[in-house]
Amino acid sequence: MKKPIVINVENVSFSYGSHEVLKDLNLKVYEGDYIAVIGPNGGGKTTFTKLLLGLLTPTSGEIKIFGKEVIEARQQIGYLPQYINFNMDMPVNVFDIVLQGRLTPKKLFYSHEDKQIAHTQLEKMRISHLKNRKIKELSGGQRQRVLLARALAKQPKILILDEPTASIDPEGQKDIYDLLKALPLTKIIVSHDIQVLFEGVTRVAHINKTLYLHEDIDTSIHRKDGHFCEMELLDYIKSHTCSS
Ligand SMILES: Nc1ncnc2c1ncn2[C@@H]1O[C@H](COP(=O)(O)OP(=O)(O)O)[C@@H](O)[C@H]1O
Ligand SMILES: [Mg+2]
Repeated sequence: MKKPIVINVENVSFSYGSHEVLKDLNLKVYEGDYIAVIGPNGGGKTTFTKLLLGLLTPTSGEIKIFGKEVIEARQQIGYLPQYINFNMDMPVNVFDIVLQGRLTPKKLFYSHEDKQIAHTQLEKMRISHLKNRKIKELSGGQRQRVLLARALAKQPKILILDEPTASIDPEGQKDIYDLLKALPLTKIIVSHDIQVLFEGVTRVAHINKTLYLHEDIDTSIHRKDGHFCEMELLDYIKSHTCSS
């Protein structure tokens, strides 16, 4: 039996002014899917995530999340944007930042439960020991884990990540992928790093103005002497040629 559809993108196009960036996208995301979004710079990946979050509205077509309008489903989505401008002099510590994930437009105070949830997420991201540190005292990988913990503190059903490992060293990247893999959520990750394809991803969406979905990626082909091999991946993708 097919799993329930969590996100349904139907015939979606988007333009910034007269510049059409996305054209006729279709995608059904099922519960528990882990979708990697790949494609060239400027291909429209970030724009696509912003449409899913309701930060932008399709020029035509429709997106439904849990069968509802995107705006109504927003509370169910945890998001890690591509760029975050941290004010490094912020007087807040790691715990405060994670706690912010509990904020809603109506909530003025944090409850005991909010604090417990924040603690649990810090543990899950294995950064409890950093809870009193300031953001400027952390490495790139540690910062990303703080932001992930904040996104998860919202207890979302869907997690959308836009190039979460772009500024992290390879070892730190592997750690983040391992943490993500273990999260039992519906996940969409934009990444330039094809390593992600071997870290539990179920399907790959290639976006370059249009969207092409690679189903059933075969992750058994990739490791040679413990390394994944880009050439083998390219061969594999070629042999499963895009039909659109
Ligand atoms: N706010 C904006 N206003 C106008 N054009 C934009 C804006 N944001 C992105 N673009 C353009 O839209 C295209 C897709 O950008 P983006 O979605 O950021 O691609 P990607 O994330 O795949 O690199 C690019 O040509 C970019 O210059
Ligand atoms: Mg981008």
